[in-house]
Amino acid sequence: MEGRRAAAPHLALFPFPLQGHITPMLQLAHLLHSRGFSITIVHARYNAPDHTKHPQFRFEPFADGIEPDQFGAMGILEMLSTIVDSLKQPFRSVMGRIQSGQNRVDCVVSDALAYFSRAVAQELGLPWLVFRTSSPTSFMFFAAFPSLRQMGYIPVQDSELESVIKEKPPFRVKDLPLVKTGESESFFQFIGEMVEATKKSSALVLNSMDKLEQPTLDSLRSEIPAPIYVLGPLCNYASGDSGSLIRQDRSCLSWLDKQASGTVMYVSIGSVARMDAANLTQMAQGLRDSRQPFLWVIRPGLVRSEDSVQLLDQFVEESQDMGRVVKWAPQSEVLAHPAVGGFMTHCGWNSTLECICAGKPMICWPAYGDQMVNARLVCQVWSNGVEMGEKLESEKMKNSIKELLMGEEKGKKMREKARLLQQLVLESMKTGGSSYESTSRFIDHISSLIPHSSDSF
Ligand code: UDX
Repeated sequence: MEGRRAAAPHLALFPFPLQGHITPMLQLAHLLHSRGFSITIVHARYNAPDHTKHPQFRFEPFADGIEPDQFGAMGILEMLSTIVDSLKQPFRSVMGRIQSGQNRVDCVVSDALAYFSRAVAQELGLPWLVFRTSSPTSFMFFAAFPSLRQMGYIPVQDSELESVIKEKPPFRVKDLPLVKTGESESFFQFIGEMVEATKKSSALVLNSMDKLEQPTLDSLRSEIPAPIYVLGPLCNYASGDSGSLIRQDRSCLSWLDKQASGTVMYVSIGSVARMDAANLTQMAQGLRDSRQPFLWVIRPGLVRSEDSVQLLDQFVEESQDMGRVVKWAPQSEVLAHPAVGGFMTHCGWNSTLECICAGKPMICWPAYGDQMVNARLVCQVWSNGVEMGEKLESEKMKNSIKELLMGEEKGKKMREKARLLQQLVLESMKTGGSSYESTSRFIDHISSLIPHSSDSF
């Protein structure tokens, strides 16, 4: 039939090459593939996803010149800017090659941080959609930076850290998504460019659900001209484990099988944040003193000081009966395991959502950026967790673990809230639920951007 497309609409998905960004982009890819789209993942060779775990997608890797150990001592901002600079030109080349070949794509879905891809999509005449992988609330704060600066909240004054931002309660000045390496003009310029590009996109996709962040979503919808689709939590479509860049130690699952229900504390601070020897010591002490079984992720490079290796070895030796230390865990499976009663987390957005989906409460120990915002959401808005405070103290940690796992008042409430949120997730994913319906509208929207594509659905 004339005008009918021979094949399904073909999307190029462009993840930012960090764990916390690749995982949700692959999850989005699985969702869209299950709804009839062809998917090509266009990605940097640095932190490349494992193609063999996703045989249903095409992959277009490109050389980026990034060295595996290049970011060791760098601050977050410098790392992000270096990655952006390294991706710009190779992305343009690979997209040009794709569009002059047999497997042309109809549309680009880009990580928000890779905002330079907008110009490339424009040059090629392709619709450009943005996927923001972290919390909508952190994005709302990024978009509000100019007004927060005008109102004097930024630069942050030490005396104001505990003050609630009266235009954005219950967030405090110290919850702002800033990086701790200093908020230079280049940081605000980077964030500003990302926000402005996102506003000009053909759609903004968010990994959350309405009932988690309704006021934020209302506010974003009034400020961002692009239509907004809230499709999450996307970890329901493919586990974080299928996007893992580090080999996962699955032996901890059989160890968990031997532990009593709800007794184990799972501890991980994600793929980027680091800690010093003093915090490592407090954490080890807190875990030991709690006398609860634990599973602790110490990924290579997590601890800044060399001395801590010895300290850690000693701790592992002494606490063999109580817990396990692994380099990298199959986190979604761990969180869903009945033995796990709680999660001490840095509140990376994927970890936060995975924990909500598992219905477990959290101890929040955020390190920087969006994690500060996410921790406040957990502790004050949803009440499914407790905050640890910036300075890690073993006594406080011990008490928090006991309260979270066994407490009959605050702990019980947090555990109940966690189960309630898990129910809300299940409802949002069902036919008629907010994320399910938003997904259907998103698919109609993409189809409307691609000439003749609706014929093929
Ligand atoms: C950081 C930010 O904090 C996050 O909010 C932002 O969106 C991306 O950058 P990261 O430190 O990677 O992310 O944390 P998080 O977003 O929680 O992602 C970590 C991922 O690694 C999760 O999907 C988690 O399941 C996985 N993981 C973690 C493992 O598979 N095994 C582990 O042992 C630890």
